Amino acid sequence: MKRIFSGIQPSGNLQLGNYLGAIRNWAQMQNDYECIFCVVDLHAITLPQDPLEMRDATREAAAGVIAGGVNPETCIIFNQSQVPEHAELAWLFNCVARLGWLNRMTQFKEKAGKDRDGAFVGLYTYPVLQAADILAYKATDVPVGEDQKQHIELCRDIAQAFNSMYGKDFFPLPEARIQKAAARIMSLRDGTKKMSKSDPSDYSRINMTDGPDAIAQKIRKAKTDPYPLPDSLRELDERPEALNLITIFAALSNKDEQSVISEFAGRGFGEFKKCLADLAVETMGPIGEEMQRLMACPEEVDTLLNVGAIKAREIAEPIVKEAKEIVGFLGPRI
Ligand code: AMP
Ligand code: TRP
Repeated sequence: MKRIFSGIQPSGNLQLGNYLGAIRNWAQMQNDYECIFCVVDLHAITLPQDPLEMRDATREAAAGVIAGGVNPETCIIFNQSQVPEHAELAWLFNCVARLGWLNRMTQFKEKAGKDRDGAFVGLYTYPVLQAADILAYKATDVPVGEDQKQHIELCRDIAQAFNSMYGKDFFPLPEARIQKAAARIMSLRDGTKKMSKSDPSDYSRINMTDGPDAIAQKIRKAKTDPYPLPDSLRELDERPEALNLITIFAALSNKDEQSVISEFAGRGFGEFKKCLADLAVETMGPIGEEMQRLMACPEEVDTLLNVGAIKAREIAEPIVKEAKEIVGFLGPRI
């Protein structure tokens, strides 16, 4: 069976965009692949973090993945720092990847900003660690958003370079499975801005922890315009808030945007929002309740992550051990 690896940052405040853009796809893939999902705390510290907040955010990310439908009994869910092989393999890959390859990474350029010299070395070598995440499990498929495509290509380059440097066909070249851009969910207050955890207004987003009442209220208050819904998507070009609500409806109901528009053409937002609120409460309400339950039991989440890490390590340890032998390290005899 093919093996999936994917990662999620413990950045706190998971919202509808994280669910529709990432977690839901993972849940849909779990029956067709062997799945390994990782809360990437080693990646998180490439930018400064508050230690206490990061612990909670790690639990929240794990709770979001589980409440979002990923089964922790059949999938492996763990936090990265509990499996030392990630960091170990990343070092081997630091000695395979070239400066020129990393210099091309757009995410580094964006995150480092103008003050390159002030950027952390970890931020620069972030994609090398990501390659180690994937290849420590010899994963074959990596579901990610479009923004991560370049990192997966780098991972393939590293796998290939390692294989040719040591003359062994050891690492597979994993395929990026790009999750469709249709699920780009925008703010409920401003249809031109991405829905994000960092927006100061809680009304701009549906948090994964929101229960039914909060969800319904946020949709009722979402910004719209006074016109009825048109019958074609093209007519929404200048109406970003309207388009966003259609996008959310389509994503939550697994329909395409055009068929949602056709269904509601000519009707006003009062009516459409009511239907959207019902749909969102029905799909996201139980997820919010399960997330709240899990976050109220941190010991339960910690135990799930411990068990996940043990299972992850059973796979990664022999692979990284063999990689170390290939490189020529002298290992223990006993
Ligand atoms: P972030 O926590 O913002 O780094 O997001 C992690 C992942 O969640 C991204 O790579 C996307 O796949 C997904 N995501 C986050 N926000 C949105 C959004 N507003 N619309 C669609 N996908 C999103
Ligand atoms: N860099 C990814 C992101 O920001 C998270 C991530 C870390 C990841 N390691 C990974 C994704 C390995 C896929 C595979 O979204």
